Amino acid sequence: MDRYLKIALAKGRLAVQAAELFEKIGVDCGFIKSDSRKLVVRDPENRMEFILVKPSDVTKYVEQGAVDMGIVGKDTLMEQQPDLYEVLDLGIGKCRMVVAGKPEAKDNYRDNARVVATKYPAIARRYFREKGESVRVVKLDGSVELAPIAGLADVIVDLVETGRTLRENGLVVFEEIFPVSARLVVNKVSLKMENEKITHMLKALRDILRKAG
Ligand code: PRP
Repeated sequence: MDRYLKIALAKGRLAVQAAELFEKIGVDCGFIKSDSRKLVVRDPENRMEFILVKPSDVTKYVEQGAVDMGIVGKDTLMEQQPDLYEVLDLGIGKCRMVVAGKPEAKDNYRDNARVVATKYPAIARRYFREKGESVRVVKLDGSVELAPIAGLADVIVDLVETGRTLRENGLVVFEEIFPVSARLVVNKVSLKMENEKITHMLKALRDILRKAG
């Protein structure tokens, strides 16, 4: 009997969108859209197993070979720079990584930004280092928009999707760092060992994405 192809999905909104893509290629992912608390679910017919993990943990499961593949945001890949193959842009989970802050600080923030709050310290450090600017980075775990308001930081580096969180907190985008979308990633050994199955799935997903335009 074929072994199961294992896939790690980032819990939450992205998992639901990923499940919709897999359903289009005939994989049973209905459980992801239900409010089940299960973390491992199998589709025996297609010999596929899905595990649901925190977004920042997806790459660990893939890198270590605990799963063959994963779906994860480009933001996480840029932050963690894991040792795996990024094989497909799924075009879901689209948003932007930006520098943002109070509107009055926008014009001369380059000269004055000294403290940057973010959930993405590696991305923030790299970005400001490449610009030749020295900043202190404060790593936060969430609600980063609070930092400039509360006086913890001059600017933030964070994701913007609809822009609503920034707007409702009186902040504006200063600069875009890079666009973000969800990527299909593959363990390096799995790509060799399970090449036929993975290639087949990639082709099916590419066809769906092409049709979706
Ligand atoms: C993300 C991000 C922004 C917000 C952007 O936070 O860090 O805060 O979503 O979305 P918007 O532009 O549509 O308002 P998340 O919801 O993951 O919460 P967190 O900040 O507590 O991690």
